[in-house]
Amino acid sequence: MTILVTGGAGYIGSHTVLHLKEQGEEVVVLDNLSRGHLDALFEAPFYEGDLHDEKLLDEIFHTYDIDAVIHFAASSQVGESVEDPLKYYENNVIGTFHLIRKMVQHNVNRIVFSSTAAIYGDPEFIPVGETNATIPTNPYGETKLAIEKMLQWSDQAYGLKSVSLRYFNAAGADPQGRIGEDHDPETHLIPIVLQVALGQREQVNIFGDDYPTEDGTCIRDYIHVMDLAEAHYLAVKKLKETNESAVYNLGNGQGFSVKQVIETCERVTGVFIPSTVSFRRTGDPAVLVAASDKARGELKWIPQYPSLEAIVSHAWDWHKSYPYGFQTKLPT
Ligand code: UFG
Repeated sequence: MTILVTGGAGYIGSHTVLHLKEQGEEVVVLDNLSRGHLDALFEAPFYEGDLHDEKLLDEIFHTYDIDAVIHFAASSQVGESVEDPLKYYENNVIGTFHLIRKMVQHNVNRIVFSSTAAIYGDPEFIPVGETNATIPTNPYGETKLAIEKMLQWSDQAYGLKSVSLRYFNAAGADPQGRIGEDHDPETHLIPIVLQVALGQREQVNIFGDDYPTEDGTCIRDYIHVMDLAEAHYLAVKKLKETNESAVYNLGNGQGFSVKQVIETCERVTGVFIPSTVSFRRTGDPAVLVAASDKARGELKWIPQYPSLEAIVSHAWDWHKSYPYGFQTKLPT
């Protein structure tokens, strides 16, 4: 039996593929390579293509005996989603519609879906539990929430069982340094800070220091990408065992401010990291910290790398070896 991973060449997708293979699972990857990297894939059968291509989906479902899908393929930049919401509805909502329709037609009835804390918007209660109100503040979060609802209705109508995993801030890299985070453009805090440490940027722009937090900068819950990968593996197992749909938050339950992240990066890299305070970024909530007790209890999920030091140091190891991402390896 094979797991189809859509978006398996992307950041979280490729770490999950690596982890699944290490657990002895058979995997096939579908990715249109709009953001992903072929070099991030480790010997998994690979189809380059799009979720909108139903013929290609038919071919994959005919060729492999697929018993579950892990669905990452999506556009995932908050800022871009505000500027071009239709791209997000097309790639995320309509793309997933094609995938679900083909799954139903081919009697594949298990899916693990890559959701996000962005569906909570600016949450009323911290830490954020799964029952918090879902009021997204940008089209990215709206499209992920729409897909969660599409999955819930598809369970009721067609018996499609799903686990939606709402990640907080994914960070870090494979502890063995084989793959890591490579976005273009890079918008995430930790890789940006590490690019400053590498001398590729002059400084970090801190997006606002007048938030109602201790040091005035935004607080986030950073979760190691390999711990996210393990949660996907456990979610597939749980779907097979219980045949029940569910929704889980994935975070460490501990928040770090932007300034604390920069300080941690300075400690790990041993490099002074200049920063300057600029304007707030539109749509940034002040504090996002997860309550993940449900995932710990029901999935038996135990994050292996909860410390921010470990997350940053794995990211740093990879960035040092691949300073310009997958394209530009250091000469040996
Ligand atoms: N930040 C800066 N300067 C930068 C980059 C980021 O100050 O150059 C700040 C942001 O304002 C934010 C924090 O660092 O307060 C983290 O920012 P990221 O861009 O790394 O992550 P976000 O919290 O904005 O978003 C991430 C994912 C989204 C997801 C969200 C859910 O990128 O896809 O978490 O919590 F929706």
